[in-house]
Amino acid sequence: MNNILVASNRGPVSYTCSEQGELTVRRGSGGLVSGLSDTSGDDLLWVCAAMSEADRQAARGARKGRLDPAGHGRLRMLDLPPATFDRAYNGVANSTLWFVHHLLYDTPVSPRFDAAFRREWAAYRDYNEAFASALAEEAAPEARVLVQDYHLTLVPAMLRSARPDLRVAHFSHTPWAPPEYFSLLPDDVAAQVLGGILGAEHAGFLTARWARAFTDCCANLLGAQTDGRGVTLGGRTTRLGVHSLGVDGEALWRRAHEPDVETCLAALREQVGDRRLIVRIDRAELSKNIVRGLAAYREFLAAHPEWHGRVVHLVFAYPSRHDLPGYRAYTAAVRQAAEEIRHEYGTADWDPLVLDLADDYPRSLAAYRLADVLVVNPVRDGMNLVAKEGPVLSRRCALVLSREAGAAAELGADALVVNPYDVLETARALRMALEMPEDERLRRGARLATAATSLPPRRWLAAQLTALT
Ligand code: G6P
Repeated sequence: MNNILVASNRGPVSYTCSEQGELTVRRGSGGLVSGLSDTSGDDLLWVCAAMSEADRQAARGARKGRLDPAGHGRLRMLDLPPATFDRAYNGVANSTLWFVHHLLYDTPVSPRFDAAFRREWAAYRDYNEAFASALAEEAAPEARVLVQDYHLTLVPAMLRSARPDLRVAHFSHTPWAPPEYFSLLPDDVAAQVLGGILGAEHAGFLTARWARAFTDCCANLLGAQTDGRGVTLGGRTTRLGVHSLGVDGEALWRRAHEPDVETCLAALREQVGDRRLIVRIDRAELSKNIVRGLAAYREFLAAHPEWHGRVVHLVFAYPSRHDLPGYRAYTAAVRQAAEEIRHEYGTADWDPLVLDLADDYPRSLAAYRLADVLVVNPVRDGMNLVAKEGPVLSRRCALVLSREAGAAAELGADALVVNPYDVLETARALRMALEMPEDERLRRGARLATAATSLPPRRWLAAQLTALT
């Protein structure tokens, strides 16, 4: 039996299947994976969803005892019917809850809570049930269970009724919507999401702002009592926690100085020459605001011909959630905006913008090291670790940062903070960042790096566990 359990939609590994039918395992990255790498042990189990056909094959093989699914540590991948997974993950989690928390709806046309949505919602309940019953089956008496994110909001309440002995925490890695936006959801759905999380003993958020939005929703929509430290409903109190997440500076630094990154760095130096480099690194994801970021670069070039030929914007926009048409269309819009800039300003010997759509981690680490300016302008973001990784890898890189990213709460004093909708303000910030004197870059950079590394994932995880002790 397991004393510590973690539940998240995406697990620490994923599988691919070769043409010969051979399964290969790949370790993922991200805060949760690195936080848990110190905590692995016999009494920890990670429960996640099989997200692809290869994952499902691996999960089935594991059940028959033919495969160690994790390759390290202990893992249980849930092999759900593909239609259930698709409706829960793509339909509810990524097209509804993600949109609500990031304020992404185009309200004259969406959302539309119709019969198709109700089928998705039923699947989301089934998917949450599958997690809750796997956790209930695997957990030792009084075990601690860490439930992650908007995919699994119903699990805490489900677990509480199946296994009241367990100590359950829920953590939201996203922003939380203000009540007037959250209440776009049908009343019963909104109530189930809030009530699901309130099944936990502890509800964690990345910033005080997101925690406050959650308590406002509980007060306005459910009539719960709130006092800043907890939410009380029906005589039970769920404690609130604000646990920011930073980066493991040493591990990141080591990884960014390995030979594959050095090779990419040399290639990038060759490509950029002695020009200044503005970098952005994102998943091609609607909340990341890439198109407005490119519009700001275009405005900057229009207003400052003296910079023509002297600057390159390197844009990483990795594919994400491409099962959803809206995400494919967004990637196409990014590509088009980039093409327009190249067409308008490029010359025979100057390419003002380089767009990288492939997920090339070593090349993105090299870009951090070479950057003069890092742009992070999401319309809304739970935290944003790109804003924290950049300063660790270059002390002389100026940071242009959206005030709507959770990271702004910690980095705002030394970043150039912008309203992500204000393209001209962002364009001005790009210029200030490029022209920032060297001593100021270094001073701000050192403080940014300190703030970025003060709460590495291992401390974030320890705080989650302590909150349940
Ligand atoms: C980002 C968010 C997380 C979320 C993850 C899911 O990293 O900050 O809150 O869980 O995306 O991404 P995925 O690719 O698994 O849909």
